[in-house]
Amino acid sequence: MMDYNGFFRAELDTLREDGNYRTFAELERHCGNFPNASWHNGAGDVKIWCSNDYLGMGQHPTVLAAMHEALDRCGAGAGGTRNISGNTHDHALLEAEIADLHNKDAALLFTSGYVANWSALGTLAARIPDCVVLSDALNHASMIEGIRHSRAGKVIWKHNDLEDLERKLAELPDGQPKLIAFESVYSMDGDIAPIREICDLADRYGAMTYLDEVHAVGLYGARGAGIAERDGVMDRITVVEGTLGKAFGVVGGYIAASAELCDFVRSFASGFIFTTALPPSVAAGAAASIRHLKCSSEERRRQQENVAAVRRRLDEIGLPHLDNPSHIIPVMVGDPVKCKFISDVLLKDHGIYIQPINYPTVPKGSERLRITPSPVHSQEDIAHLVTALESLWTRCELARRPVAA
Ligand SMILES: Cc1ncc(COP(=O)(O)O)c(C=O)c1O
Repeated sequence: MMDYNGFFRAELDTLREDGNYRTFAELERHCGNFPNASWHNGAGDVKIWCSNDYLGMGQHPTVLAAMHEALDRCGAGAGGTRNISGNTHDHALLEAEIADLHNKDAALLFTSGYVANWSALGTLAARIPDCVVLSDALNHASMIEGIRHSRAGKVIWKHNDLEDLERKLAELPDGQPKLIAFESVYSMDGDIAPIREICDLADRYGAMTYLDEVHAVGLYGARGAGIAERDGVMDRITVVEGTLGKAFGVVGGYIAASAELCDFVRSFASGFIFTTALPPSVAAGAAASIRHLKCSSEERRRQQENVAAVRRRLDEIGLPHLDNPSHIIPVMVGDPVKCKFISDVLLKDHGIYIQPINYPTVPKGSERLRITPSPVHSQEDIAHLVTALESLWTRCELARRPVAA
């Protein structure tokens, strides 16, 4: 008989030997005092430097007040799926807020961005007859799984490579339904897709576009609708997908698109139909966050200043980081064991929490520390981070970039 636990142990041991075993830091964020947190399975307080609550909205008084108010008004859970007793006024208000944000007819909520991608892409690709999905090579796992689950034809095009995309579109029959799936800001490298040019190709070859703006909503554009808003191409995207769990600081996911498309996904997507709706308090908090960021650019401005300050300080000491145009700063270590070691020492000795990013999240040899400065990190926080990184770079004998005179 198989020794099941022995098998699990051996597989985990292999991960450990490769430096790819993941451990959780048990944190407790301090309400109203982001980026500070208590570290429960270690000692003392830490500063979080790798959060996807990019703007600290998970601590914003307006968001918290909306959630408290809805909790007191409606209670805890939604009480059912959207179809069966779980559909509330707060869900409807949030969907209207999201549709307005992206200037689309309609929006549809899911329990997470992952579920939104998996369900919406999976449903569209499975149900549109003979649909083929053209998927960027670096698309997120949730999109890949949705496409795989659909069993539709899939063509992978080289990451952000318009020539490769066009070549692959041109190889497909004219009348075949096509869906181009891609992201705006890619979360690990922080690079940005040429959305306008992809839309030009979509128009030329009769394809729909499916854009994941998970790492851009709240952060880019005059009202925080993402890169498509910043680039003035929102109306050219067929489906925009986003999360309520990152810059909006709460949890949940969504698509925004035409009324017909949202109604179609609402009616056929099992990942929408067969699961309990988000709690009304979550919907109310997310709506308050979106509303706030539609009107206030202050958080975005301060975040961008801090991102620029961290990049400048890293350049001054020659620490290699990817020069991308976004708010994500990948500091490249290139070795899984050293990456984990640096992260451990930062946490234990310096009170700095940055999770190491190793394979399979990124390719082997490109292990990194993914730093996400927020509007509420102080200049002292930045100085403390850079000093700690500098000492660890020397200790680990890692290469530096030439420093400009
Ligand atoms: C590009 C991308 N899409 C979708 C998701 C899933 O979003 P959520 O965290 O809301 O499930 C993520 C999550 O990290 C992501 O990076």
